[in-house]
Amino acid sequence: MRKLLFIIPVILLSCTQNKKEQKAEEAKAVQTGKDPHSFSNPEEAVVNHLDLDLKVDFAKQQITGIATWTIQHPKNADEIVFDTQDLTIDKVTLDEDSTGVFFALGDKDPVLGQALSIPITNQTQKVKIYYSTAKSAAALQWLNPQQTAGKQQPFLFTQSQAILARSWIPTQDSPGIRFTYTANVEVPNNLLALMSAENPQKKSADGKYKFVQPHPIPSYLMALAVGDIAFKAIDQRTGVYAEPGMLSKVAYEFADMGKMVNAAEKMYGDYRWGRYDVLVLPPSFPFGGMENPLLTFATPTVIAGDRSLVSLVAHELAHSWSGNLVTNATWNDFWLNEGFTVYFERRIIEALYGADEAKMQEVLGYQSLMEGIKEMGDKNPDTRLKVDFTGRNPDDNVSDIAYEKGYFFLKTIEQAVGRQKFDAFLKDYFARHAFKTIDNDTFLNELNQLLIKGDEKLKKQIDSYAWVYQPGLPKEFKAPSSSVFKNIDSLTQQFLATKNAGGLSKKITSTNEKLYFIHKLPDNVGQDAMKLVDAEFNFTASKNAEVQCAWYVLAVKNKYEKAYPAIKEFLTEVGRRKFLMPIYKELAKTAEGKKSAKEIYKNARANYHSVSYSSIDDLLK
Ligand code: BES
Ligand code: ZN
Repeated sequence: MRKLLFIIPVILLSCTQNKKEQKAEEAKAVQTGKDPHSFSNPEEAVVNHLDLDLKVDFAKQQITGIATWTIQHPKNADEIVFDTQDLTIDKVTLDEDSTGVFFALGDKDPVLGQALSIPITNQTQKVKIYYSTAKSAAALQWLNPQQTAGKQQPFLFTQSQAILARSWIPTQDSPGIRFTYTANVEVPNNLLALMSAENPQKKSADGKYKFVQPHPIPSYLMALAVGDIAFKAIDQRTGVYAEPGMLSKVAYEFADMGKMVNAAEKMYGDYRWGRYDVLVLPPSFPFGGMENPLLTFATPTVIAGDRSLVSLVAHELAHSWSGNLVTNATWNDFWLNEGFTVYFERRIIEALYGADEAKMQEVLGYQSLMEGIKEMGDKNPDTRLKVDFTGRNPDDNVSDIAYEKGYFFLKTIEQAVGRQKFDAFLKDYFARHAFKTIDNDTFLNELNQLLIKGDEKLKKQIDSYAWVYQPGLPKEFKAPSSSVFKNIDSLTQQFLATKNAGGLSKKITSTNEKLYFIHKLPDNVGQDAMKLVDAEFNFTASKNAEVQCAWYVLAVKNKYEKAYPAIKEFLTEVGRRKFLMPIYKELAKTAEGKKSAKEIYKNARANYHSVSYSSIDDLLK
């Protein structure tokens, strides 16, 4: 249906550019409707509801489950195809008949897993799959008590995005396929279970929990966490979950959650999911945050003690609109999830903490984007917003391009059409596409028809074509600047000229400022300068993970050995890929660095989730 509404072809070409060349490039970039990262056949048979029964066995590190799928038949189909990865399928039954039917598992693909094909008829309404997970299930991380804050109980969490849901649920694992769900989950009776659904706030006596997700969601938003977890309310509809020893720190850090939801609603329409809670996980969680509906999963590395990293909550909350409500059609449209979310995140930050704060975060994002583009190369096709990850793992597409280039494209539109018009557009966009998918062409069509409306000047000013289909940044793009940071530019220059760091820590005080300052120091600043800065700021011993990561990368670049024990500790404790990768990458650049990286990794790997160790295996092999 959505496609039918926009049959008018995309006309993005500016008169000055070679039209034929552009068309060819566009055609190459544009995918057909099929999701290249799923074996499923939704045009023929597609799921719309799941009833899940799970037993969580910590001793065996195994989930056994029954997934009962309710299905629909858009066409006459003689089979339905699911995605699986490393699942053992014991039995499949159809509708009310309990006799097992034939099923076939396809060849193993190292990225996509295996297709599970089940013959059905047009009358088939339910498909019941009995299965169990492997020890190696990519979505799951089983933590022993030592790897938790409390050290007493084991912990389990899932990470399904992008295509790992299939390693713990047989599912049509495409972001374009949505379903509602219920779940019965059985865990050891001293542990709490939580899902991306309406959640309990207390442990049950028997370890049995029931969940309901009444809104249709794609399978990358399926989530489960099990552990010694407690709840604390922030306000009526928001709250935090964490291990008991962490709970009050977490509640302090995220005290503004309720205000964030209010601010978000005021800009872009009602929060549609009921409650909004955050679960803070043990430090091995591979991401900063994951926008599981109703319950964001978050890394403890944002609990800085001074609320300086709470933009993460703004970000994951924003996904409740951009991503969870309006979802990228395939992982090649990933920037539509993340770019919109970073834009929305900074608008929440501006609403709560003011324009200066949002601007600083924007400039830090720009710094990071420029470093990212430099590393990838500004002709690299993966620096386009519309990417083609067919045949590759979409998890490898997590870079500043989708996030920050996406953000700056939207910011460019905002500046060209004016904030008022852009806000009205966005609010309608979220309403129009709620619980549906969005792809690149649909968004660009709507931009043309609803905002640009044939205005040649606007069209040129925005230059969607360059942003979306060309690598690097458009030539006309002007770097953002923050008045607060301007002062740090001159302080940095002064320091580099005089080699005197005395008093700097009285002038460079906030986390944003420190991050900006560290990034402004030249790569080859030298050990003497590192020593002076460290004596003044004590960055090596910082407890702020963002500061630590930035400083440790610079320390490796400059062979500043005083930081090495702290680096080793950081790499062993923390499993967040965004921090691990740049440090390991920098270490791997020299022979001796690579040797120590491998030594650290030998011990640390067991603490990492598969998302992180897969990336680092590749890097250090
Ligand atoms: N949805 C992402 C995490 C993700 C992306 C998981 C791609 C798997 C594949 C999440 O919303 C995110 O962007 N997290 C960031 C947070 C940051 C931008 C505030 C992270 O983990 O660093
Ligand atoms: Zn995100």
